[in-house]
Amino acid sequence: MTHIAHGTTTAQVLDGVDRNILLSVENLVMRFGGVTAVDGMNMTVERGEILSVIGPNGAGKTSVFNCISGFYRPTSGSIKFLAEEITKTRPSEITKMGMARTFQNLRLFKDMSILDNVKTGLHSRIKQHWYHAFLHTPSFKKTEHFIDETARGWLEFVGFSGDERVYVTQLPYGEQRRVEIARALCTSPQLLLLDEPAAGLNHAEKRALIELIRKIQALGVSIVLIEHDMGLVMDISERIIVLNYGKEIAVGTPEEIRSNPLVIEAYLGAEEGQAADATGADVELLADEAEIDEALEEIEAEPEKRGH
Ligand SMILES: Nc1ncnc2c1ncn2[C@@H]1O[C@H](COP(=O)(O)OP(=O)(O)OP(=O)(O)O)[C@@H](O)[C@H]1O
Ligand SMILES: [Mg+2]
Repeated sequence: MTHIAHGTTTAQVLDGVDRNILLSVENLVMRFGGVTAVDGMNMTVERGEILSVIGPNGAGKTSVFNCISGFYRPTSGSIKFLAEEITKTRPSEITKMGMARTFQNLRLFKDMSILDNVKTGLHSRIKQHWYHAFLHTPSFKKTEHFIDETARGWLEFVGFSGDERVYVTQLPYGEQRRVEIARALCTSPQLLLLDEPAAGLNHAEKRALIELIRKIQALGVSIVLIEHDMGLVMDISERIIVLNYGKEIAVGTPEEIRSNPLVIEAYLGAEEGQAADATGADVELLADEAEIDEALEEIEAEPEKRGH
């Protein structure tokens, strides 16, 4: 699928790569035995945009996220992130490239504190040999300090103001969702995938979520949102993709989607589907000193990125 983003200059496409396109998915197919969860789906995500993927239960939305983020190996098709083919790339590698996600069913570590949960996001990009931790070397202390400060910065950014040392399970559900977003932001993503972030939130929490998503976008991060709350989707999305039976049935602005007869039919004709979500978190504890120094410099150079 050829797609040149709005406002793209000739220079940006000279080498055949449109730099405004962060992610492009072509002809994506994901089968589980006899079930075709994703059936030839196409999509592009432009830099800085908020794009929603909607569709009835079982339409294949989460499966698309699982393919994009490397949790599922697609049956066929192509997924390019930053112009690189990632169809066979591991989730931890994709995270390092600059893509982060949250999960439909929260995936926090129940026996860890709020802060430690957020810190696991940083561990995915920081390598540390076990002996540094064992011997409490200066490198270990410096890394730990960097990790703590960054995690606290992101907690503040998502609007968390309580005691970050308590177990994450002591938080109300809506707050736990924020912690999961903070953990995703810790990986410094260019693209953030949110799978039903408003599920289980009350009205006030949904308003706060909309503000938070806009704040994340203002950092220059592109956001793809799977969401059933149509008010939220219509309010925040620049573009919407509608999936039904694993196929894209409509793409357009909220106005276009609202009045599309195919979309109305898909929702009215939808049967209750059972959403299976068999993904697993993949956290890797690796890094070297050069990377840490670079990251420290980055964070010092861009304090506003941490919400200060
Ligand atoms: N790991 C899996 N193993 C087998 N079938 C799966 C797996 N993951 C998804 N499916 C099936 O693929 C189809 C699409 O599921 P998926 O979870 O992607 O839908 P969804 O659009 O996210 O639904 P919901 O809105 O309910 O979350 C469903 O029929 C589901 O049962
Ligand atoms: Mg789902």
